[in-house]
Amino acid sequence: MEDSSSTALASQTRPKAQKMTSLEKTHFMENLKLDFQFGLEAGQMLEAVKSGQKPEKLSGLQSQVEEAFLTLTRESGKGHEFLGWLHLPEQLREEALAPILEKAEDFRKKSQILVCIGIGGSYLGAKALVECMTPQLAQFIMGYPRVIFAGHQLCEDYYSELLAALNHYDYTVCVISKSGTTTEPAIAFRLVREHIEKKYGKEEARQRITVITDKEKGALKTLADQEGYTSFVVPDNVGGRYSVLTPVGLFPLALSGVDIRKLAQGAQSMQKLLCTEKLDWTSNIAAQYTLFRQYLYMQQGKKVELLTNFEPRLLYFGEWWKQLFGESEGKEGKGIFPSSANFTTDLHSLGQYIQEGERLFFETVLSMESQKTELVVPFEEADLDKMNFVAGKRVSYVNEKAEEGTCMAHSQQGGVPVLRIRIPQLDEYSLGQLIYFFEFACGLSGYTLEVNPFDQPGVEAYKKNMFKLLGKPGA
Ligand code: PA5
Repeated sequence: MEDSSSTALASQTRPKAQKMTSLEKTHFMENLKLDFQFGLEAGQMLEAVKSGQKPEKLSGLQSQVEEAFLTLTRESGKGHEFLGWLHLPEQLREEALAPILEKAEDFRKKSQILVCIGIGGSYLGAKALVECMTPQLAQFIMGYPRVIFAGHQLCEDYYSELLAALNHYDYTVCVISKSGTTTEPAIAFRLVREHIEKKYGKEEARQRITVITDKEKGALKTLADQEGYTSFVVPDNVGGRYSVLTPVGLFPLALSGVDIRKLAQGAQSMQKLLCTEKLDWTSNIAAQYTLFRQYLYMQQGKKVELLTNFEPRLLYFGEWWKQLFGESEGKEGKGIFPSSANFTTDLHSLGQYIQEGERLFFETVLSMESQKTELVVPFEEADLDKMNFVAGKRVSYVNEKAEEGTCMAHSQQGGVPVLRIRIPQLDEYSLGQLIYFFEFACGLSGYTLEVNPFDQPGVEAYKKNMFKLLGKPGA
């Protein structure tokens, strides 16, 4: 491994410790906020819960959530052996982050492209946060390593294109699989390993491959030991979809230049707020969120939750969230179906159904202040498109009004209950908060529904059929 002190990249991934500005201090204290839009009865009940009251309509459910909270925090429920994520943020100290940053720095120096191989929980967290934190038109911007994901599907043309592209770039590979035997990443890794060994030779290829897998068992661990690849561990007690704050997410993020220290700080602040000895309804927004989504599901018959945003960088955050809740709650014939939409884009497609279709869902809006730049709508003398009424206004102002108008239309005219999670801004700290918030809420929701939120037995069904059809020995 190279000497990190001598590199310019070191200063990119490891900013020097600086005094916090007063703005940063304020932000450091800021948390996510939850509210209902436009004075629905549920909105009044939420305000009552936040002020420590127990509305009669909710009292039974509130007790169920309280019980679920104890089951979760005392680690006494189904699947408790997979609760390592509960205390992960506090473990993300310098000793844990430094080796990840060091290897990421090494790879950044060697490569224009990092191929990151994995699926499900070994893919979505990193993909979501890379999308949030790196330039949206990255393909036009040179000068830093690009993360390209693979192993998350079985599209032959995708792999042909990938291998062809890799002929022209210097690259490194990170393969992530807790079990080491998942079909999609295993096939992708075979293809890429063959390519990288041909391109660089076996010896150099060894220095360009990092493996993130189980500590002891599994095919990938055996291969890493045999070949001498650097490896990072996926802790035994953390399941795939709860693993973004382990090397599974942290390594690809560090490689993309995302500040994983700030991400850890955000998650730590949320752990302190939520994972307490006693449930405090006035501050525990995960309990508030759980209470109201289960109220809408169990008592109002809303079977679908639509996670929406007005920020295109959050598209894959919705994908991560769908896996988290879908695999955790959807079992034993129960569970809210998690879906997502990205506005304003989808207002021109799904918008019609949301406004006037069957009333089967409630909506949770991720609302955030996120623009780093300023751009105003130009004035045009001819005004052919009749847009001069917004000339001189920022594009983000128009977007804010679109959000307000949409929430109003959906909740007031469309009868869709709209919950809003307000996030201070799109940065690593807030994303760390958001990750832990949803993980905690998901565990709590699963226990409120009385299912095991940490297994996924249903995922095996397609695999069994596929293996049989492929003629796998013993299938
Ligand atoms: O949440 C989960 O456990 C799954 O989605 C897994 O992450 C996914 O199936 C990939 O598994 P593995 O990391 O073993 O390849």
